Amino acid sequence: MSQDKQQGRVAVITGASSGIGAATARSLHAAGYRVALLARRTDRIKALADELGEGALAVSADVTDRDALVAAAERVAQEFGGADVLVNNAGTMLLGPFSAEQRDDYRRMIEVNLLGAITATEVFLDQLKDGGGDIVNISSVAGRVANVGSGVYAATKFGINGWSESLRKELLPDVRVTVIEPGVVATELPTHITHEATRQGAQQLYDVAEVTAEDVAEVITFTLQRPRHLVINEILLRPAGQVQ
Ligand SMILES: NC(=O)c1ccc[n+]([C@@H]2O[C@H](COP(=O)([O-])OP(=O)(O)OC[C@H]3O[C@@H](n4cnc5c(N)ncnc54)[C@H](OP(=O)(O)O)[C@@H]3O)[C@@H](O)[C@H]2O)c1
Repeated sequence: MSQDKQQGRVAVITGASSGIGAATARSLHAAGYRVALLARRTDRIKALADELGEGALAVSADVTDRDALVAAAERVAQEFGGADVLVNNAGTMLLGPFSAEQRDDYRRMIEVNLLGAITATEVFLDQLKDGGGDIVNISSVAGRVANVGSGVYAATKFGINGWSESLRKELLPDVRVTVIEPGVVATELPTHITHEATRQGAQQLYDVAEVTAEDVAEVITFTLQRPRHLVINEILLRPAGQVQ
């Protein structure tokens, strides 16, 4: 797709308040997209919208709240005429040994990572179908490989991969579906881990992470910029030193 055709396309990004979501918003805006920034931390998305200026809209929305997503879709329709791209990026990685003590974390990850993406997609689907859209689902290496202590997180990402493959077949050729599967990326993702020993171990790994949110955002923007007769269905990317 030429740079001209990107101009004015509208991308909705969930989890745009930090990390990969915020970097993707910056990258797509720089490529000529109008961007709707969805997240719960309103101060962060408002600051990002102010930084980006024209063509950026902050919309507070929790992806576990369908009514909030419906209100967000109405706002995007009013302000921008509807969404062309949905980046399902909002997610949380609450790692730890499998135990009853972590049961709230399990529900949270399924509700945010998996059901949140599914709900955002069904809510925005009519807008995406109108004129040729794109869905980018942020999965993970954990959508391919499950390790000790990552079972439910991996289940949500394996779930994203399975659901995306069905969606890809169902929505072509009008809506392209892409799955992005990053390895370790330097973001605040591990800071939310509730199991203290696991959080400390993960933080040590993330403190030396070399792949940045901007690296991943660049890949997402490249994927979306391909001509519409070409679909990049899946991209698996790891830091050069990551084995698992
Ligand atoms: N960093 C990595 O190593 C890595 C690797 C593979 C995949 N990923 C995936 O990449 C995605 C982004 O993560 P990140 O690394 O950029 O971490 P991050 O900086 O912690 O970003 C997570 C984003 O999700 C949002 N979020 C969380 N719960 C939400 C909810 N209920 N409703 C709406 N938004 C919610 C957060 O915004 P608010 O808190 O403001 O709502 C935040 O913007 C996730 O799906 C993650 O699983 C990350």
